[in-house]
Amino acid sequence: MVKLSKKINEIIERDKKVIMTTTRESYPFVPSHGDGDFVFDVAGNKFIDFSSFISVYNLGVNANKQIREAVKKQVDKLMHSAFTDYYSELPVEFAEKLLGMFPKGFGKVFFSNSGTEANEAAIKFSRIFTKRQYILAFYNSFHGRTLGSLSLTASKSIQRAGFGPFNATIHVPFAYCYRCPFKLEYPSCNFACVDYIEEYPLSKEVSPEEVAAIFFEPIQGEGGYIVPPLDYFKKISKIAKKYDILLVDDEVQAGYMRTGKFLALDHFGVEADIYTMAKSLGGGLPIGATISRTSLGTIPAGSHANTFGGNLVSIAAANASLEYIKKNLKKLEQEVKEKGSLMMKRLNEMKEKYEIIGDVRGIGLMIGVEIVKDKYTKEYGVEEREKILNKCFEDGLILLPAGKSTIRFIPPITMKIENIEKGLDIFESAVKYASNKV
Ligand SMILES: Cc1ncc(COP(=O)(O)O)c(C=O)c1O
Repeated sequence: MVKLSKKINEIIERDKKVIMTTTRESYPFVPSHGDGDFVFDVAGNKFIDFSSFISVYNLGVNANKQIREAVKKQVDKLMHSAFTDYYSELPVEFAEKLLGMFPKGFGKVFFSNSGTEANEAAIKFSRIFTKRQYILAFYNSFHGRTLGSLSLTASKSIQRAGFGPFNATIHVPFAYCYRCPFKLEYPSCNFACVDYIEEYPLSKEVSPEEVAAIFFEPIQGEGGYIVPPLDYFKKISKIAKKYDILLVDDEVQAGYMRTGKFLALDHFGVEADIYTMAKSLGGGLPIGATISRTSLGTIPAGSHANTFGGNLVSIAAANASLEYIKKNLKKLEQEVKEKGSLMMKRLNEMKEKYEIIGDVRGIGLMIGVEIVKDKYTKEYGVEEREKILNKCFEDGLILLPAGKSTIRFIPPITMKIENIEKGLDIFESAVKYASNKV
């Protein structure tokens, strides 16, 4: 049982006075240090981490020695090299290595500092490459919070409220089959949600010749861990090809081995034209990357840049992290598959047992559990989810919400099976508790 301390309360009080409101969780988590599968708070409480610190520590919480050593070495040498103004070898070496993880024909990288910035660059590149203005994006998507990417984000209205007007964007329903917006069932629906795109917005609202790109997450993250059917993106890609619209795949959360492949989109048998990455790419340090097809060309000098893109310390961390992945690729692929199956099996067993688990969905170690009040009505179990998250915290497990009433399961992909099992035990007892007490 977690014990709260005076120090925890003090830090939270001081935070509330000076830090602008963000999205802090309801539980009082004040981390102090990490150790692979575990994180310790400032009062010495030990937690199993099923959040990877919002999908950043795919290789363990502060755990990878090579990453830490590379950062220390680079800090003593040169931290910042003004990479968009001067030349530097390390970011070039990392770009070459990163491009090696992409399909053939991907030859250009732009470095930034975050997921939202990687997507801003992708929006601008799509527009300049196609000379078109509109972007098509999906409901429940989350692409970031700066104004360009926020124009695409349509996950929760609070994230947009008061910040408009936005860029030229068309939003369409995603294949959220558990709650199909058309009240149909897959596969007998025949992808009515995809037909809708051509029949409605692209016929009645905006000409497809004005659409620069279709932006998507292969598995929607913040919007609720929504996994579309495996043939979904082939259909989306068909529309894109028909009208010469670019496909932009946001791999910020789903990528970097989370699903057992470097790119989550690889599970769906299609290629995008531009990919964006961030979060785990930096091994714990800030980085964003926008990766585009060589055939799209390049942009004029002076057209897009930043100050810290290619920062040497972030790149050193990213480079060491990618080196680790390349060396251990087959092993990691296999491990994610095994650990993901184990988690899915246990969570599906719980779904059979507990009325408040409505849906379990995921690929690899990117799994969402949707909490409902009742399986038949599928009424969102908002309070039930809150109880589960708080109870898990009290019992030593860090979990994060997604969407209206989903819980995300994203442990470090390196987590030991015994700790995954322990975390699932804590989760199950919290589900039991929330089932009785609400
Ligand atoms: C899929 C996706 N894209 C973009 C972002 C934005 O990334 P950042 O918070 O680094 O700007 C996020 C963040 O959660 C994300 O999950």
